[in-house]
Amino acid sequence: MKILVTGSSGLIGSEAVEHFDRRGHKVHGVDNNMRQVFFGSSGDTTWNLKRLRSVTKNFDHHDLDVRDRVALESLFRANRFDLIIHCAAQPSHDKARDIPILDFEVNALGTVNLLEATRLHCPEAVFILLSTNKVYGDSPNELPLKELETRWEYARPEDYNGISENCRIDRTLHSLFGASKASADLMAQEYGRYFGMKVCVFRGGCLTGPSHSGVELHGFLSYLIKVAISGGVYSVFGYKAKQVRDNIHSHDVVRAIEEFAANPRPGEVYNLGGGRENSISMLEAIAKAEAMTGKKFNWKYVDQNRIGDHICYISDLGKFQSHYPSWKITVGLDEIFRQIIDDHTRRLDGSTS
Ligand SMILES: NC(=O)c1ccc[n+]([C@@H]2O[C@H](COP(=O)([O-])OP(=O)(O)OC[C@H]3O[C@@H](n4cnc5c(N)ncnc54)[C@H](O)[C@@H]3O)[C@@H](O)[C@H]2O)c1
Repeated sequence: MKILVTGSSGLIGSEAVEHFDRRGHKVHGVDNNMRQVFFGSSGDTTWNLKRLRSVTKNFDHHDLDVRDRVALESLFRANRFDLIIHCAAQPSHDKARDIPILDFEVNALGTVNLLEATRLHCPEAVFILLSTNKVYGDSPNELPLKELETRWEYARPEDYNGISENCRIDRTLHSLFGASKASADLMAQEYGRYFGMKVCVFRGGCLTGPSHSGVELHGFLSYLIKVAISGGVYSVFGYKAKQVRDNIHSHDVVRAIEEFAANPRPGEVYNLGGGRENSISMLEAIAKAEAMTGKKFNWKYVDQNRIGDHICYISDLGKFQSHYPSWKITVGLDEIFRQIIDDHTRRLDGSTS
């Protein structure tokens, strides 16, 4: 296959590049290192592009902006893609309020640019959009919760598996990021349903792994472990530090993409996170980081939650697993922590940066 990965120097994009290159496909990557523009030097992904160039065999990188329709047009004219994996984004909930237009242009317009280029040049291709659970806004917070010693928990047995795709996406507080991603999510569904294209929308929980350039505003575990290893103070915002996130390793995300690409179901939407087994609260994550690094973790509690932040979010993986029964979570929380710790330690030693 000829594959296009946007956001190819980021967490999910780089995992996809490596994975499909290893499988013998031709992979084109698009990334203009805009993560550095959004988050400053600690968001710089140059180290990851350098790493990708050294580990891949059949990878071409294009320093191109997904907002640039003319440049995309010539890329799509020159290459007939079989699979498009769209991971480029402004990925932060909080950052979006400082840059509403840029956020919307990258997340919403950038996605339409790619969908339309696909429709015009390779309509038979499979198109994967990395969307987010923020499209549900704060509606998951309406579920009744109970407070346990270290985490919030769903109070009703029927909610045990977490949030399904039936959760509503409108009449809720999204953050501007959630709204720009919801626009992209709806347009992608429309290209699947209206035009019959092989589009898939994955609504991510916390996507994680060692290739994240974690920063305070995005990449929760990566940033937490960076602080645990390199020092500094980590701020926890509200909810008594008991907010729950489900974490999925980038490898399991890319395996889900691969499963869909092999048997596409046009216009489908799936929640994709670590599920119940890979869920962890802030307090629990801090304790685990301390236990696994052997270092005391410095953090402070800010008694104000982030606007619209989820209190307890666990992705219900039932729909994806029923459509693709051979897919499952293969990387557990301990292994995720271990890999991120090893990688940050190596980066600190200067061997991969
Ligand atoms: N990481 C998470 O926890 C998470 C959760 C839910 C959804 N998602 C979604 O998954 C996707 C991938 O996330 P990630 O964690 O790999 O993010 P990331 O920031 O690590 O990667 C995104 C990449 O896109 C690039 N990029 C940004 N704007 C661009 C533009 N205009 N043109 C070209 N390249 C551009 C960045 O430089 C970066 O390398 C995003 O759509 C994100 O919203 C991520």
